Amino acid sequence: MHPDPSSRAPVFPELTEDVVGRIAATADARVREVMELLIHHLHAFVREASLSHEEWRNAIEFLTRTGKMCSESRQEFILLSDILGVSMLVDAVNNRAGAGLTDSTVLGPFYAGRQRELARGETILLREEDGPPLIVEGTVTSQNGKPVRDALVEVWQTAPNQLYDVQDDAQPEGHLRASFRTDERGNFSFRSILPVSYPIPDDGPAGQLLQLMGRHPFRPAHVHFMISASGHRMLVTHLFLSGDPYLDSDAVFGVKPSLIVTPEERNGSHCIVYHFGLEPLD
Ligand code: BEZ
Ligand code: FE
Repeated sequence: MHPDPSSRAPVFPELTEDVVGRIAATADARVREVMELLIHHLHAFVREASLSHEEWRNAIEFLTRTGKMCSESRQEFILLSDILGVSMLVDAVNNRAGAGLTDSTVLGPFYAGRQRELARGETILLREEDGPPLIVEGTVTSQNGKPVRDALVEVWQTAPNQLYDVQDDAQPEGHLRASFRTDERGNFSFRSILPVSYPIPDDGPAGQLLQLMGRHPFRPAHVHFMISASGHRMLVTHLFLSGDPYLDSDAVFGVKPSLIVTPEERNGSHCIVYHFGLEPLD
């Protein structure tokens, strides 16, 4: 056990002041502010943890492996940020929740850019799948519940094999993802299958860290939404299915109670009806 750090005088405080002092001439005030905070917190972390040389070397090796794992199709630093809760914290700092506004959550690494635009009620599948049929009916509104017409609604989800099309060469490109436009009443709808819970990519440093911390890599089943409309803040969110065993332990901390839905049964299909409230930009 380390002694209580608060009971000791900080180790080498002049060093922190010296490092912070050297950035006094930084022209960009925001860079100066952020770097000053970073230096203070980083130094405090090293003192509090009493980091050994070996631990620091391990940390640097870990970050080096994280960088080497990154490619066009793999962003290991984002995964690291996700599993440490940093992505959700940055999101919380930047998104005001409020009455009538839908909660946001993580974007994740599997957004694949703008997809084909489908008409109301069309399916987002490009091949048959075994999953239970799902209908999603959404309404996009602004302040005071006013419908937003012509909003761009982008959706994506996994296949029953727990993989997104971008992770699986056997799936047609664009399978289980598409774009829609809201009509004059702010409505859109599409057909799909129920999403399934799945593990985030855990064959790299982020996965090793999860294992070290005794955590699993699973995310509860969800459908992703990215909704953009002129004059409004873009909404990045998911809808999660109630009853999923991972709702309380999402590997990336993305679940918010307001985003959990219970599909109703309609003519042999599961049906989700959801209201998305966008924040008007001043
Ligand atoms: C996703 O939901 O697609 C996701 C989010 C964070 C990390 C990995 C996957
Ligand atoms: Fe996902």
